[in-house]
Amino acid sequence: MTPAPAAPPKAIVTGGAQGIGRAIVERLLVEGRHVVLLDADAAAVAAVAPQLAGLGTLTARVCDVADETAVAAAVAEVAAAPGALTAVVANAGIMIRKPVTDLSLAEWRRVIDVNLTSAFLLARACAPLMTAAGGGAMVTIASTRAHMSEPDTESYSASKGGLLALTHALAVSLGPAVRVNCVSPGWIDVSRSRTDPAAPAEALRPVDHAQHPAGRVGRPEDVAELVSWLLSDRSGFVTGSEFIVDGGMTRRMIYAD
Ligand SMILES: NC(=O)c1ccc[n+]([C@@H]2O[C@H](COP(=O)([O-])OP(=O)(O)OC[C@H]3O[C@@H](n4cnc5c(N)ncnc54)[C@H](O)[C@@H]3O)[C@@H](O)[C@H]2O)c1
Repeated sequence: MTPAPAAPPKAIVTGGAQGIGRAIVERLLVEGRHVVLLDADAAAVAAVAPQLAGLGTLTARVCDVADETAVAAAVAEVAAAPGALTAVVANAGIMIRKPVTDLSLAEWRRVIDVNLTSAFLLARACAPLMTAAGGGAMVTIASTRAHMSEPDTESYSASKGGLLALTHALAVSLGPAVRVNCVSPGWIDVSRSRTDPAAPAEALRPVDHAQHPAGRVGRPEDVAELVSWLLSDRSGFVTGSEFIVDGGMTRRMIYAD
């Protein structure tokens, strides 16, 4: 009798219904992983499952990743499903752009909770599963705003800077079983990566592209490509590192003439 085929390895992607997370989900599905997508937007979660149905094994769940109980329940469900958990991507993120003098403590805390505390909750719940599975990899999605800022972005920049530090701390604590790396995107046009087909695409100007040393604004697939590599055995000697995907923008000096 032919033995039953092994269940595919499982991957968790937060904020995977739209934008960069969706591109990561698509990429990991095509690679043959069972992807568990956690997203707080119920309408987007309902829409994305049929849209990606042909690509592979997808489980799409509504989950606020800032909620400790919700994350624990979602990871328990993942643990109970067949297959080994070998990949986790902490991608969900929000931004509140407001003058710091108007930013409420509740708003500050919400951004920190969604962007930073969620990665701690996820790592804490998933590390034992990945270790028991013989090893795995986690990727956090920070931002070039961890290193540079526009006005009125204090909570976002602080959360992303915290994510960088959390990444190297986790890499040191969880290695060698679990490698942990961070991808920091620059400007990625996510307007073509929505679940609503009627959502308007962002009208990018020639100057938006031309100001990038790489000659264009980024696409979600640019990030997904790197995340795929960081989750694979091909990056087995890489952990605790940050990878900037910004078309060179953080290397460009912008002093006025
Ligand atoms: N797009 C960019 O230019 C850019 C640049 C740098 C960093 N980033 C980072 O990349 C990540 C993805 O950004 P994006 O542009 O694709 O955003 P997006 O808004 O297009 O998608 C984010 C997804 O996360 C989900 N989400 C938000 N809060 C959540 C929560 N509490 N729990 C679960 N899901 C939640 C949303 O529903 C949405 O589906 C974020 O962490 C963002 O900070 C984006």
